[in-house]
This record gives sequence, structure tokens and C-alpha cells, in this order.
Amino acid sequence: MPIEFDEKAARSLERSYQTPEIATTRRATLDALGLCTGEHAADMGCGPGFLVAEMAGMVGPEGRAVGIDTSPDMLALATNRTDNLPQVEVVDADLLHLPFEDGAFDALACTQLLLFIKDIQRALAEMRRVLKPGGRIAIIETDWRGVVLNAEDDSLTRRMFAAWDAAAISPNLPTRLKPALLAAGFTGVGVEGVPIINTDFGRDGFSNGMLRGVAKKAQKDGAISDDEATAWIDDLNTKDAEGAYFFCVNRFLFRAEKP
Ligand SMILES: C[S@@+](CC[C@H](N)C(=O)[O-])C[C@H]1O[C@@H](n2cnc3c(N)ncnc32)[C@H](O)[C@@H]1O
Repeated sequence: MPIEFDEKAARSLERSYQTPEIATTRRATLDALGLCTGEHAADMGCGPGFLVAEMAGMVGPEGRAVGIDTSPDMLALATNRTDNLPQVEVVDADLLHLPFEDGAFDALACTQLLLFIKDIQRALAEMRRVLKPGGRIAIIETDWRGVVLNAEDDSLTRRMFAAWDAAAISPNLPTRLKPALLAAGFTGVGVEGVPIINTDFGRDGFSNGMLRGVAKKAQKDGAISDDEATAWIDDLNTKDAEGAYFFCVNRFLFRAEKP
């Protein structure tokens, strides 16, 4: 079952996005976009608004930073976060029907959204439409099928991640994104890996919240029992106490231009 971006999910993602690992990913996205003062930029699926707030700092008061999202709870968090930034607009809009004129933006970010979209080509075409010629796009997607984890029970871990797989339409979109960008008419497509590695299971690390979310999702979908969820998390805590905890997942940053 797909994830619902309700109030609980919004709060949990807001916590996760404050971890140093996700702050590093945001930095990489902003570096790829290279925003300048006065430019017009937008973040597609802005979630709690961290990235659009940072974009606003780069384009300055004479620029424009727009965050769009379809979740009222995410929009509320993003609005709250950017309230004091007059150059920010938080807009209730669907990526597939952007309420902006052709060529409205110099740069667009789209992080961790395309995996939930069925018609990727339409989404890319819509983003291309609202970019100016020469405009830049930065997309972050994760290879959710490639999680590396030191866990005792392989079969239970596989069932956990099978349920997680069903949370998105394209859990391994990075494998297909370059040809999709080229087919949509983007040029200069480049990609770099942004790995997230945790060697402890501390609550301030990305994998703690993420793996607890995986267990909750599998439990909610009936893929595992309550006892199995508890045993899995207990095992990860034991690995941590023994100094044997290891987690890695790869994010991929795609950059491209509208010719
Ligand atoms: C996993 S979150 C990523 C948030 C943010 N981009 C980040 O990486 O920190 C996905 C976001 O996309 C939003 N979303 C899902 N489908 C959407 C659509 N069709 N159009 C716009 N936003 C959408 C969700 O509400 C959610 O806030």
C-alpha cells in the first residue's frame, strides 16, 4: 500500500529531514542547482519546506522560491517554516498539473517525489515546460531495493523490505531515470551517488527513524506480526550495543538542463 502523507507522516518526515545525512543531501541538491541572487526556483513536493527555505536564502529577497505539494499537512509545515521569507510561495499543486506559465523558473528541485508518480514522463515533461531554456533541474531518488543492513534474520528482513517496496510505485527509479530524462528532452544529464551510511542505530541518525518506519509499515500492511516488528528492532539495538550495526542506502542526484 502506498504511503499517505498525513499529519503523522509529515511530522515523522520532518524529524527525519533534520538528520545530518539528509542535510548533506540538501546541500548536494543546492550545489547542483547553483542558484544565484534574483533567480526563480521551485521545489516539487516540498514536504516540510527545508529545501525551499534554503533556496530562498540563495535567491535572496529579489528572487522567488516556490514550494509545491499536494499534502495539506506538508503544506502547513512548509508554510510555517518559511513564514518570514517574503520571496517564498507555498502552493497546493500537483506535479502533473503545475499552475505556472511556460518558462517560469530558472531552476527546479524534485527530491524523493518521482518514486510516487505513475507517469514519470508526464512529470518530467511538466517540469521541462515550466523551466526557461537553459534552466537546470536537480532530482534526488533513492535505490530502496539496495538497502544494506546487518540484521540477524534475513527472511524477516526480506519481508520487511518487500512491504516497503510496495510503499512506492518506483522503489528503484534511479536505474531508469537517465533515459527518462533524455526522452523528456533534457540534455547534459549527469548523476552522482550520495550514500547514507550509519554505523550506529542512534536516534539522531537517518536509519533509526527510517527502519522504525519500515517496521511500522510492514506491521500496518499485515506483512509481519507485532512480535516480529519488536524482534527486528530489538536485534538492531543489540547489534548497536555490540558495535556491529551497519546500514547503507544510496541516493542518486541527477542533474540536467532544458536546452
Ligand atoms: C517523501 S516526501 C519528500 C519531501 C521533500 N521533497 C524532501 O525530499 O525532503 C514526498 C512529498 O511529495 C509530495 N507529493 C506526493 N505526490 C505529489 C504530487 N503528485 N504533486 C506534488 N507533491 C506530491 C508528498 O505530499 C510529500 O510531501
